[in-house]
Amino acid sequence: MAVEAFAPAKINLTLHVTGQRADGYHLLDSLVAFCDVGDQVRVRRAEDLSLQVGGSRVAGVPTDGSNLVLRAAEVLKPAGQGAEITLEKHLPAAAGIGGGSSDAAATLRALAQLWDVKLPGEADLLSLGADVPVCMAPGAWRMAGIGEDLTPLPPLPSCDILLVNPGVAVSTPVVFRGLASRENPAMPQDLPVWGDALELSAWLARQRNDLQAPAVAAAPVIGEVLDALRASGALFSAMSGSGATCFALFEPDEGQAQSAAEDIRAKHPDWWVAAGCVL
Ligand code: C5P
Repeated sequence: MAVEAFAPAKINLTLHVTGQRADGYHLLDSLVAFCDVGDQVRVRRAEDLSLQVGGSRVAGVPTDGSNLVLRAAEVLKPAGQGAEITLEKHLPAAAGIGGGSSDAAATLRALAQLWDVKLPGEADLLSLGADVPVCMAPGAWRMAGIGEDLTPLPPLPSCDILLVNPGVAVSTPVVFRGLASRENPAMPQDLPVWGDALELSAWLARQRNDLQAPAVAAAPVIGEVLDALRASGALFSAMSGSGATCFALFEPDEGQAQSAAEDIRAKHPDWWVAAGCVL
């Protein structure tokens, strides 16, 4: 028997840094969404645990125990069970769109079904990465704390989305260290229910990603990506997570995200560009 799970890209539509814990981790208030661009995980029964990685973004992805997929599998693995895990990698690594966390979450979902075991608790999920809990159930979430305080939201309005990464890996701790302030205002306490892509975009334009300025300072090419997205006719654009991937939102089903993707690819053949829709 084989079980498959999709590992969608995670997008921080907003990311407000509201404080810092004594252990150094930052408190966040983030509107998180997922899109239909992502990696694919496949698991089948085997005597031992093993990982094979393929796909368009396989370069540089570790296949040893440092890969979050194998770490996640070790957390779940009952004695005497094994699995052959295949990861088809399409998302860039260390890119602010939760690639490793989403892969780990998809692996846990697939293996829990294969081995017929319960999913790990919050502390185990957080120990794999602060974004792993939200990646367990892709959808619209308000994420607070360091990633453990999750409030489900009604589905977001249909939007097309364009993701662009300029090929620089930015270090999350370095970006956090570059924050001008660690205590910024949270999002409004009550979030509206957005009627359409335009309403959501107008609201997002009044929110922030507090990590965007320090990420642009660390890797100025992110500023070029943001300029390209602003010029693409998008309803809204910003950086996701600690970067370097940026996203732009478009009206659904009008092909605008696809044609913006083609324009940006033609001008910047070395950038990673993917168009899809918000899940
Ligand atoms: O959880 P994850 O492994 O993605 O975090 C990478 C690093 O980013 C952490 O070691 C920490 O330095 C920083 N971080 C943080 N506050 C968060 C999440 C991550 O300071 N909420």
